[in-house]
Amino acid sequence: MSEVAVIGAGYVGLTTATCLAHLGHRVICADIVEERVERLSKGEVPILEDGLPALLAEGLATGRLSFVVGARKAAAVADFVFLCVPTPQADDGSADLSFVEDVTREIAPVLRRGAVVINKSTMPVGSTRLVEQILGEAGASIDQVRVASNPEFLREGTSVEDFLHPNRVVIGCDDPSVAVRVSELYRALDAPILVTDPASAEMIKYASNAFLATKISFVNAIANLCEAVDADVREVTLGMGYDQRIGFEFLHPGPGYGGSCFPKDTAALLFASRNVGYDFALLDGVVEVNRRQHERMVEKATSMVGGSLEGVTIALWGLTFKANTDDLRDSPALVIAQRLIEGGANVRAFDPAAGESAERAVPGLVVVSDPYEVCAGAALLAVLTEWDQFRWLDFNRVRDALASPNVLDTRNLLDPVALRRRGFTYEGVGRS
Ligand code: UDX
Repeated sequence: MSEVAVIGAGYVGLTTATCLAHLGHRVICADIVEERVERLSKGEVPILEDGLPALLAEGLATGRLSFVVGARKAAAVADFVFLCVPTPQADDGSADLSFVEDVTREIAPVLRRGAVVINKSTMPVGSTRLVEQILGEAGASIDQVRVASNPEFLREGTSVEDFLHPNRVVIGCDDPSVAVRVSELYRALDAPILVTDPASAEMIKYASNAFLATKISFVNAIANLCEAVDADVREVTLGMGYDQRIGFEFLHPGPGYGGSCFPKDTAALLFASRNVGYDFALLDGVVEVNRRQHERMVEKATSMVGGSLEGVTIALWGLTFKANTDDLRDSPALVIAQRLIEGGANVRAFDPAAGESAERAVPGLVVVSDPYEVCAGAALLAVLTEWDQFRWLDFNRVRDALASPNVLDTRNLLDPVALRRRGFTYEGVGRS
């Protein structure tokens, strides 16, 4: 059992803390928001994440997991300190490391001899060295304290499952004995452990996310072509996916990728490329295809309501950036809602998890708490997030509620044949 501090109780920090406690370590998780720490200490999970409430309850019950306000208290008694603070996108596209830098300065004076500081949040290549340097400047001798990169590959909604059953664990550290100590934290997991130099570990994270974003933009481009040549993208991706070099995963066309990782990480990798004088034209294209895909959905909606959005009422199902999360960060649905409103439409939305915070994110958007009520009098229903429950709603009721039975299914979630049989005009992505 190791003594672990996790700094930051967001999606990554909470998952890391609860899962490491589940694996038998003693974990103190720190956050700066008092109310969050209070709620977590009472077993209340502030985010929607499958399996997290059970693991939090378990950690609190066994006494292996506790929460404190402030990083110092947690770091002072830890052998391993995971940095899980946000690394948001700065105006120039780079990753803003100010939270990482502040926390590193704060904990430096209290770190134990032999402690390992572990960069878990996604940080640009060079961040392991940067944290080492700040620790040194702030009074922690690098002979006594070591730094490693250990990027997360967690998908929101399935982060607990991803943490406990990872495809791989990556540890970037120049000192093999430190890498072994970090790897022992994961001893109970059945996963390949890859030890690399820090820069390679940091690049693995960016390259993985950029590659997945590339797959999505690629399939979105193919879907758009399918529409032009009367092919069905679902058949096409099925035929592609059987080739094991391609695989079935991440080949679902849609309104474009979003969320807290892909947009930010692709921007940061492009920024880093420019910085070293490399023209990463492929990744530029991926980002541009994604931007256009959001716009394309707005164009489809516009043409389905007769060519003008002015004064038209549009109903949306789904606001989160994907299903099974309550996260609205960089959600394509919000971009699309915003554009529809800018075009003059009255836009109302239903989402099973997003709540009314979406109204603050998109001025003019009205959030409704019922999937049928949202359709009342609308000229179009647009499905923007692939919540499974949308498939099982009563479409006779939906048709009767809508002013015109138009459905734009940007996730190819619904059955076009069944809908057309009920009298709907249906349009998906990449299928005629
Ligand atoms: C992603 C990575 O998967 C994870 O490894 C990394 O650590 C963080 O970023 P996440 O942002 O939670 O995880 O979502 P993910 O499931 O990867 O989806 C990202 C976006 O791509 C969503 O907007 C989703 O709707 C979209 N997507 C995904 C598609 O449009 N098509 C697909 O086939 C897959």
